[in-house]
Amino acid sequence: MSDIVILGIFVADTAYRADRQPKMGETILGTSFALGPGGKGSNQSVAAAMAGGDVTIISRLGKDAFADIARSTWAKAGVKSAITEDPESYTGAAYIFLENATGNNAIIVAAGAAGCISVDDVEANRALIEGAKVFITQLEQPIPAARRALEIARAAGVRTILNPAPAAPLEDDLLALCDFITPNESETESLTGLPVTTLPEAEAAADALLARGVGACLITLGERGALYRDRTRSVHVPVISAGKVVDTTGAGDAFNGGFAVALTEGRDVVDAVRFGCATAGISVTRPGTAPAMPSRAEIEALLAAR
Ligand code: RIB
Ligand code: NA
Repeated sequence: MSDIVILGIFVADTAYRADRQPKMGETILGTSFALGPGGKGSNQSVAAAMAGGDVTIISRLGKDAFADIARSTWAKAGVKSAITEDPESYTGAAYIFLENATGNNAIIVAAGAAGCISVDDVEANRALIEGAKVFITQLEQPIPAARRALEIARAAGVRTILNPAPAAPLEDDLLALCDFITPNESETESLTGLPVTTLPEAEAAADALLARGVGACLITLGERGALYRDRTRSVHVPVISAGKVVDTTGAGDAFNGGFAVALTEGRDVVDAVRFGCATAGISVTRPGTAPAMPSRAEIEALLAAR
C-alpha cells in the first residue's frame, strides 16, 4: 500500500539536441544524444518519491533492456511498482528533439507494452488504488484504463489528479471524476477550445473546465508559473526559479509529483502548488526528465530561500 498511486507509462527517453528538426527526406547532424528514463507516469512517480512521497506505479513493461532501465530507475528513487509484464510486446521509447537555441522540445512517444494497459490491469490493482490518499494518471495509456482507475479512486474517497497529457478530447463525466486537473497551456487550449496566452485567458479556460465538472484546475503556465482556480479561490503562483533553465522536458511531471506529495501531507492546496512549482523549478535546471527530479532537501532549501 502507498499514499500515492500512479497509473501511467514508462518509456526510454532518447533525447537529441540539434539546431533544428530535419525536413522529411533529410538527414542532419545533431550535437548530442542522451538515453534516460522517461514516460509521464514514471517521471511523476520518481518526482513524488524523491520529494518524500510513498509511491507505487501501476504499469506494463516488455521484457527487454528498456524494462531493466525502468526497474533500476524505480529502485533507485524508492518507487514501488505493480507491473504486468508482457513478453510479446516491447518497452516503449520517446523521441525527444531539443532545439539548441531555445531548449524547446518536440516529442514522439511510442508506448509499446504500456500502450496496452487495460481495464483488467487496473481492476487487478483495485485494493492498491482504494488504499491511496492521492491517485494520479495521465493520458499516455488508454483512456478506458484511466477512467476505471479514476472511478475506483473516487468511489473510495481518494483524491484524484488527472494530468491530461498528451491532450485528448475528454467526456464531461470523466472530468467530473477529477478533484484536480493539471493541463499546461496547450492542453488547456485543446480541452476547452479557448486561447490561453494570458493569465485572464487562463482564468476563463479554468472556468470552462470547472463548468464541465472538475473540482479544481491547476494550469501550468511555463515561465509564468501556475494558476490554481476552484469555485471559491483563484491564485496565481509565479515560477520558483532555481537557476538557468537547461531542459524543460518533464517539468510538468515534476510539478505533479511534488504537488501530490504536499497534498498527502495535508498542506493547504496553494502551499501544495508552491511545492510543485519548486520541484519543477529545480528540474528544469538539469538535463533529462526523471534524472532531473530534486530531493526533498533541495525542494525545501529552495522554498526556504524565498
Ligand atoms: O513529460 C515528459 C515525458 O513525456 C517524457 O519523459 C517523454 O517520455 C514523454 O512521455
Ligand atoms: Na529537466
